[in-house]
Amino acid sequence: MDAVALEATLKTEMLGHPLRHLSSVPSTQDVVREAARAGAREGLAVVADQQTAGRGRGGRNWWSPPTGGLYLSVLFRPHLAAQHTTWLTMCVALGTAQAIENVCKVRPGLKWPNDLEWQGRKIAGILSDASFRGDRVEYIIVGLGLNVNIDFCAQPDLTNHATSLQSIVGHPLPLEPLLLAVLTQVEDRYLALKQGVSPVSVWAERLTTLGKPVLATTGDGRLLQGIASHVLEDGALCIRLEDGREEIVRAVDVTLRPNRQ
Ligand code: BTN
Repeated sequence: MDAVALEATLKTEMLGHPLRHLSSVPSTQDVVREAARAGAREGLAVVADQQTAGRGRGGRNWWSPPTGGLYLSVLFRPHLAAQHTTWLTMCVALGTAQAIENVCKVRPGLKWPNDLEWQGRKIAGILSDASFRGDRVEYIIVGLGLNVNIDFCAQPDLTNHATSLQSIVGHPLPLEPLLLAVLTQVEDRYLALKQGVSPVSVWAERLTTLGKPVLATTGDGRLLQGIASHVLEDGALCIRLEDGREEIVRAVDVTLRPNRQ
């Protein structure tokens, strides 16, 4: 990947400026965090061919083989109240979904909170690492792992849960057009957010989780079984339990899976 040539074709105002490409890193999140601490400006994007210690939500690993995945982290310095930082992650999910739609002509759904999915299988995950100064956001690093040309058939523990764009469209896809489309579409959403446009209603419309039976494991180990009924303005999910009570869960402290019983 020629990052200099790619950046030159990017029509964005700030996202992807600068664009750095690395062949192998432990995690692109860590590269961007170091740059953020050193004062890097908003818009810095780091993409890697491979991650040796890719991180997922909830302390999980993100399997990042040497070819076929898009591993991207972007630095934001938004003027957002702490309770609205979830809106930024929604913008990244929506922008990525739109980019996939433009490039691949398929419409991915969102599994709450921000996984991109296709027919129940995950095609991308998003990880947000925020740094606060008091109740002010200092920076947020949003990482995207997109399964582009990864073959999950030989991965018994992942094959039922994950798929890639290559499997969906039936042929391999070049990473560069997807990367450009993601940066462009995410920036559109982010600029709208900066103008005060909330992404919540569009995000909620794309959620495939609503109305479905779910099992949620909370941070304190409780198992909640019920129907994902609706979402709140900050992205929290309301689950209507079998006894009629309602529980509100937030992405930071819950693992959600469909209940196929
Ligand atoms: C998830 O658990 O669904 C989130 C996965 C996020 C993976 C991406 S890949 C690029 C960036 N670097 C990381 O180590 N993680 C994120």
